[in-house]
Formats: sequence, C-alpha cells, structure tokens
Amino acid sequence: MEKKIKYFESSGEQNTDELIRLIKSRKEELGIKNIVVASVSGKTALKIADEIPDMNIVNVTHHAGFKEKGKMEIDSEIKKTLEKRGIPTYTSSHALSGVGRGISNKFGGVTPVEVMAETLRMISQGFKVCVEISIMAVDGGFIPTEQEIIAVGGNARGVDTALVITPAHMNSIFDLRIHEIIAMPRP
Ligand SMILES: Cc1cc2nc3c(=O)[nH]c(=O)nc-3n(C[C@H](O)[C@H](O)[C@H](O)COP(=O)(O)O)c2cc1C
Repeated sequence: MEKKIKYFESSGEQNTDELIRLIKSRKEELGIKNIVVASVSGKTALKIADEIPDMNIVNVTHHAGFKEKGKMEIDSEIKKTLEKRGIPTYTSSHALSGVGRGISNKFGGVTPVEVMAETLRMISQGFKVCVEISIMAVDGGFIPTEQEIIAVGGNARGVDTALVITPAHMNSIFDLRIHEIIAMPRP
C-alpha cells in the first residue's frame, strides 16, 4: 500500500487550512465518520465544522485551570455556536499528563505518563495531542473504540498534525493504534 503524507515545512497554525483540506479528502477515501480536534478557543473546531459539515466532530479543550486556576479557556460564544451545530466540547483532565504533572510539579522528576507524552512529542507536538485527545474523547463516551477516527492537533494554536487512529480507553492505552499520518510538520 502506498499513501501520501504531507510534511509541513514548519510547525504552527499557518498549516490549519491546508490540513483541513487534506483531512477532507482522506476521510472520503477511508469512509471515516468521526473526527476529534484539539481546539482550545473553539476556532479550529468551527473551521472544521464549516469545511467538513458531514462528520461527527468532537472538540476537546484544555482542562479548566490549565492557564489560570478555575478558568476555562474556550470562547463561550464559539462553544454555543458549536453546540447549536451539534458539536460537543469536552473539557477534562489531560490523558497524557493528568495527576502525574501535579506530582512532578511538586516533587520534581518525571512520571511514566509524562515520559510517554514527551516520546510522542519527538514526532511532533500535534502527534502527542492527537493520541491524547483520542483517549480523552473515547473515555468521555463521545467516540467508539472499534472504529477508525481522525484526530487533529497542533502546536499551541491552530493545527498541523492529523492521524488516523483506532482509539482506546486510558486503562488500555496500549491497544490504541495509529494507522496513518495524514500530515505533520517536518522539523
Ligand atoms: C488536551 C490538549 C492538550 C494539548 N497539548 C498540547 C501540547 O502538549 N503542546 C502543544 O503545542 N499544544 C497542545 N495543545 C494545543 C493543540 O494542539 C492545538 O494547537 C490547539 O488546541 C488549537 O486551538 P485553537 O483552535 O484555539 O487554535 C493541546 C490542546 C489540548 C486541547
């Protein structure tokens, strides 16, 4: 089997529009119905909803308190607009840091889950994010475990990495499968 991977010259939100075009054609080729996107503000989720309206979209955000104690980061107007279009926004503890980050923040060192996250970041920030939000969305009950989905993540803002994944729950993480890389940054 031969497949195309788009390598972006640099990481970042400037790749968002092209990535969405690539996702659109790959989901048609594979007949994939579910897409999970990491969109902190909701902006990227809305872009995907505009460009690919025939997919079940799940938007995953940072957990409350990621930036500031008790605060949610998503734009509440965008969240409402997404809801009206049937797109859920899911906010929960991050699967690939979780309580581990609280432990290393307090005592120093590193926890196994943080090593996993950093290993995935060797490929790209977005690669780690795709794996993480797939676990979160499946644990939240938004997507099935036995079907291939498209996961989309990036570097802080916008998106630059998309993967075809069969997700798994947090308690069976090593059952998760990464089937295809649609696009990722090259550096
Ligand atoms: C659960 C979660 C974890 C994330 N982790 C990282 C990360 O480790 N590194 C990173 O560069 N961006 C991370 N992001 C940011 C996303 O990859 C993406 O760039 C961002 O959510 C896009 O949001 P926007 O639509 O507001 O631009 C994370 C986002 C979420 C929701």
